[in-house]
Amino acid sequence: MMRSICVRKRTARWALTAAPRSMRCVMIKKKTTFRTPRIPETMQAAAIDRFGPPSVLTLHTLPVPEPGPHEVLIALHAAGVGIWDARMRDGAWWPTEDPAFPIVPGTDGAGFIAAKGGRVRRFEIGDRVWAYAYANPKGGFYAEYVAVDADAVGHAPERLDLLKAGAAAVTGLTALQGIDDVLRVRPGKTVLIFGASGAVGTLAVQFAKYRGATVFGTATGRDATLLVRHLGADGVIDARSDDAVERLRSLAPEGLDAVLGLAGSRALDRFLDLVRAGGWVAYPNGVEPEPRPRPSVRIRAYDAAAGPREFARLASAVEEATLRVPVSEVYPLAQAAQAHERLEKGHVLGRIALRIRGGRR
Ligand SMILES: NC(=O)c1ccc[n+]([C@@H]2O[C@H](COP(=O)([O-])OP(=O)(O)OC[C@H]3O[C@@H](n4cnc5c(N)ncnc54)[C@H](OP(=O)(O)O)[C@@H]3O)[C@@H](O)[C@H]2O)c1
Repeated sequence: MMRSICVRKRTARWALTAAPRSMRCVMIKKKTTFRTPRIPETMQAAAIDRFGPPSVLTLHTLPVPEPGPHEVLIALHAAGVGIWDARMRDGAWWPTEDPAFPIVPGTDGAGFIAAKGGRVRRFEIGDRVWAYAYANPKGGFYAEYVAVDADAVGHAPERLDLLKAGAAAVTGLTALQGIDDVLRVRPGKTVLIFGASGAVGTLAVQFAKYRGATVFGTATGRDATLLVRHLGADGVIDARSDDAVERLRSLAPEGLDAVLGLAGSRALDRFLDLVRAGGWVAYPNGVEPEPRPRPSVRIRAYDAAAGPREFARLASAVEEATLRVPVSEVYPLAQAAQAHERLEKGHVLGRIALRIRGGRR
């Protein structure tokens, strides 16, 4: 049975002004898929037909994915660009032996719910959301639409416009879970964020500070150092300098309680000598080389987890910590290849994002 409902009657006031015109009136098909009437058959996506350098990422016209019963279709405004996307693009980290080209990369982004499966209860058409799904079977986030499991989606915090939300979904989950769940940062603890000027590090500095810790960060160069200080770090050290460990020892003479490692290098291993007995080291999988085990220090690798509870916690932390999301460069979807070229040059402050449609919202 089909019935038509105007979103105007069902959603909060902000959604009326925020929802794109095309989403305001929806057709609802009972127990199947709930969708806006104007979802096109095809969409623009930055995709690859083979693994390779950034130039393999080109604009494609592809079918808009159909959400299954437990999935939502998101009309994306922005997608994050991460170093792991580059590894998926060049084939180094593709999770299956038999890739089905064309592949749309992109693990996270933000936008509006455009359609939903019949079993999805947590979202309404027009809801403002962010999402994270690694190697999503129905395609990634470098696209006008993405269909993902509803459990990989959360309501985006009001504090962040959709560009910043799109740039902070997986990095926010990674930073918060590292600080809260693995390192259990508490007031009075002394924490080092190794790689503090990067996409995860810039957020981790703020969460650790918000939890009441004394926070040190590593950063190279004047701009990166100023940024990490501006985000609240109590001290910033250049991990590439010869006297880095001595400088940190003088800043934290009683040692470190915890380290979040966001880059693998011999420098990280040197800093771990400063961790007190019983202290913690956490690093997200992907950081290589992994820190070497050492007696009396607990070292744990982890992966960012997405779920309703995880997104609710992140949204609260974003609001409470008045989180700032540094986005150093924004590219249109058609320039995804240029975004990857920039990514591979390194030394990105915060994150790179793709703007897919719309303004700030
Ligand atoms: N498993 C998961 O769920 C998950 C989720 C998110 C991220 N990750 C992983 O977490 C890591 C960090 O991600 P990200 O997005 O924050 O990366 P990013 O933006 O590239 O940041 C890396 C940071 O490490 C610094 N760095 C790199 N090499 C260094 C070296 N040799 N010495 C000192 N500092 C160095 C960089 O500083 P410069 O700019 O000065 O080089 C930058 O501040 C990546 O390995 C990523 O794959 C895993």
